[in-house]
Formats: sequence, C-alpha cells, structure tokens
Amino acid sequence: MSNVILIGFMGCGKSTIGFRLSYKLRRVLEDTDKLIEKKEGISISDIFAQKGEDAFREMETDCLRELLLSQESKVIATGGGLPMKKENHPLLKALGTVVYLRISPESVWERLKGDTTRPLLQCDNPTAKIEELLQKRASVYEAAADIIVDVDGKDIEQVVAEILERVAEREERCQPHGSEQEAKV
Ligand code: S3P
Repeated sequence: MSNVILIGFMGCGKSTIGFRLSYKLRRVLEDTDKLIEKKEGISISDIFAQKGEDAFREMETDCLRELLLSQESKVIATGGGLPMKKENHPLLKALGTVVYLRISPESVWERLKGDTTRPLLQCDNPTAKIEELLQKRASVYEAAADIIVDVDGKDIEQVVAEILERVAEREERCQPHGSEQEAKV
C-alpha cells in the first residue's frame, strides 16, 4: 500500500506536518492517537490513567491492523511510542513508506515544555525523561524507517518539501521498470 506514515518522538511535528502533507497530496490524514481517542471515547491521558500503558500499546497495534484494511492511500501520523513494539514494524511496512521525523531532545523540550497532554512527560524531571526515552528509541525509529528527515532548524514547509521529494524518489526506485514489466507479461 502507498500510505505515507510519519513516525518519531513526541513533539517532532507528526500531526502538524501530516496535516500539511495531506493537503499537498490531497489525501486524508489519519492520526493513530485521535483514532484511539475516538474509539475509546476518552483522551490518551485518561486511557493511560484508567487502562494503563500496556492496554494503550495494544490499541495502537489494533489501530494499525484496521488501517491496513483500507484501500485508500492516506497520510498517517502515529503516536511517538508506536514503533517501540517490534510487532508493529511489519504492519508499518505493509502500510507504505515510513518517514522518521528526527528531532533533538533540546528541540522536543523547547516545543513541549508547557504541554500537559503527554502522560509520559508528566514527571519531576521531564528533560531527563526526554533524553532517556530518545536514547532508547532513536535506533528503533531508524530501523523502522524507509526515510529519515531531520526537523531541527527547519520550518514546516521545508520538512514537507523534503518528505515529498524523498517519497517520490523512493516510489520511483521501487516501481518496476517498463522492460521488467514487459518481461513479466
Ligand atoms: C507517546 C506519544 C504520544 C501518545 C502517548 C504516548 C509516546 O503521541 O501516543 O502519549 O510513547 O511517545 P505523540 O507522539 O503524538 O505526542
């Protein structure tokens, strides 16, 4: 399937960039956090508080499975912890091109310091938590990604332009050439 799936740490811009990308590509934007909130009828913070993180992670996997049922090409923004479950990697790959929006811990803090909606960062030392989580997650994001785009110091339009260019390049490379297609006929 040829969805564009955005992965990366909290605050890297998956939702904002996804929104702009969906406009440019004239595609529907799906957001796994929003789909889960809609299905459960409560916020992510309440899901963590009432049902626990493990239950939320199961919901994320179910959400990917449901997205796989659609025939329509979309832009899909994912929750920052979704790629941490190895079981989700083949599902992400089956959905389409996986784009990792890479961000530094300093930029995450700059963007999220007033935020109260990320349960994992509601702790005594959120900067240390960001460092710790990013260190654990960086190599997993890289392993799950087809394309890595650095977002530090770039505005939304620059990031979107880079994604569009690199996704197009990749799709071109992955498409069978005319001669190969003819050979198969
Ligand atoms: C999480 C990231 C959040 C949300 C939940 C857990 C994480 O999504 O899924 O709070 O584990 O990094 P965003 O990346 O959209 O903030």
